[in-house]
Amino acid sequence: MKNQILFFLFSLFLLGCLADSDLTCPAGFKLVNQSKCLKIFPTSLKHLEAETTCRGFGGTLVTVKNAIDNRNIVNMAANSGASYTWLGIFCFGNDTSSCYHDDGTGALTYNSFQSGYPKSGLGGCVYMPTIGKTAGQWVNGQCEVSSHAFICEVPTTFIDPLCTHNFDGYCYLPSHEFSSDTLQNTTFEEAMVICEEQGGAKLVSIHSQKENDFIKSIYKYINFPQIFIGAKVYIGFSWVDDTRWDYDYTNPVASSDGKCLKMDTSGKIENGGMWSPVDCKEANFFLCKRPMFGVSEKEINPKFKRQLTVPASTDFPDFSHCNTTLYLAPGIITSFGYPEKSVPTYCTWNLAVLGPYRLGLFFNDFSTASELNITDEYGKVLSNPMGNLSPFQVLAPTNIVSMSYNSKMDAPDGYHGFSVTILPF
Ligand SMILES: *[C@@H]1O[C@H](CO)[C@@H](O)[C@H](O)[C@H]1NC(C)=O
Ligand SMILES: *[C@@H]1O[C@H](CO)[C@@H](O)[C@H](O)[C@H]1NC(C)=O
Ligand SMILES: *[C@@H]1O[C@H](CO)[C@@H](O)[C@H](O)[C@H]1NC(C)=O
Ligand SMILES: *[C@@H]1O[C@H](CO)[C@@H](O)[C@H](O)[C@H]1NC(C)=O
Ligand SMILES: *[C@@H]1O[C@H](CO)[C@@H](O)[C@H](O)[C@H]1NC(C)=O
Repeated sequence: MKNQILFFLFSLFLLGCLADSDLTCPAGFKLVNQSKCLKIFPTSLKHLEAETTCRGFGGTLVTVKNAIDNRNIVNMAANSGASYTWLGIFCFGNDTSSCYHDDGTGALTYNSFQSGYPKSGLGGCVYMPTIGKTAGQWVNGQCEVSSHAFICEVPTTFIDPLCTHNFDGYCYLPSHEFSSDTLQNTTFEEAMVICEEQGGAKLVSIHSQKENDFIKSIYKYINFPQIFIGAKVYIGFSWVDDTRWDYDYTNPVASSDGKCLKMDTSGKIENGGMWSPVDCKEANFFLCKRPMFGVSEKEINPKFKRQLTVPASTDFPDFSHCNTTLYLAPGIITSFGYPEKSVPTYCTWNLAVLGPYRLGLFFNDFSTASELNITDEYGKVLSNPMGNLSPFQVLAPTNIVSMSYNSKMDAPDGYHGFSVTILPF
């Protein structure tokens, strides 16, 4: 018995060593404290360009969770000659509880703001000096005015010499890299079989915005319109590898039909990376995914779970989020009283997505008697739709949007209101 326990402990020890020493980062990224992969980009860019660069690796701007992280980042930036660096934090207001980590782990629990910051009216992007007296002290400012150096953070993964596209503990195998042409472009059912033949891989399931960004990056330099991903309709869509449906990037206004899902890999900004239905019997390129040794399924970032609200038909539910001061995507908002009846009221909505993304509004039902005013964070009108409209989308230039609507004429004029899904893009 004692020997068995010793053996068990010894095995655990071996496994521990193996797992730790096998941790690695994508090329160019440095493993920091066995927990983060960081890369410094000393060239100054505006905030959106910096975030876009990081998303191209399946990451975000660096997140800072404690004083040690902060010091490491200051040193890393200073050593590369940068005097300021962007941080993966966005503030929606003037106190630290309104500041959120880019990686979706929620509001800040640690901060290193200079006294008096975050300050109102400056802009929500956060950066810090890395040299001089105030080195390491954060300030907020306008995202698209100044340019700074930046550090990207991507998940750690495991060493696998046989894997070209290695991300967060999984190996991704795009069909266009398979040796034979006949294996590259085929039906959904056959694609599943071909994946299985690649070391027991499955058609890809996708569980976070970062993973979706990473997959987009595989197709960045080839002009594929679309690929199959591993989801099929049973009751709703589910993943064929039996993992949880915990992240949803289906295009709510997609007009295509079918029982399988494709991902838009065309690389255009509009709907880039979004999913939509496709005929399973159509031939398409596809992507397989297999786990690596020692990797267990990770907890999915709750911020990226799409809340599915099922309207109850008996009582009078309100899913409108009318007069919300900060509604963080993803989610669904509606006109007041929708879909039961339109109640005359004036509503405003302040909508946002986390710092690395821009905000997309996907109206799947729209029927209004008067204008819905949609403005960007600077008050510029993005759109003011009215009437009975087919599904449409409005893509904002930044991560913040305001809407206002007065539904007083809806019911008298025979309109029923609107429903909109809010997603990052
Ligand atoms: C390394 O990470 C652990 C756990 O996240 C943390 O407690 C520790 O302070 C970190 N050490 C350094 C040097 O960053
Ligand atoms: C912070 O913002 C609130 C609401 O926008 C405002 O009332 C308050 O005066 C601000 N505080 C400071 C110190 O700017
Ligand atoms: C895949 O095959 C189908 C049917 O053979 C063809 O119509 C389609 O153009 C091919 N797709 C690509 C991207 O080559
Ligand atoms: C929303 O706010 C407006 C004005 O601030 C108010 O008139 C309206 O009744 C509010 N609507 C709801 C549903 O609370
Ligand atoms: C929408 O904007 C127009 C023009 O600025 C304004 O007249 C109207 O009152 C606004 N409607 C709402 C509901 O805020």
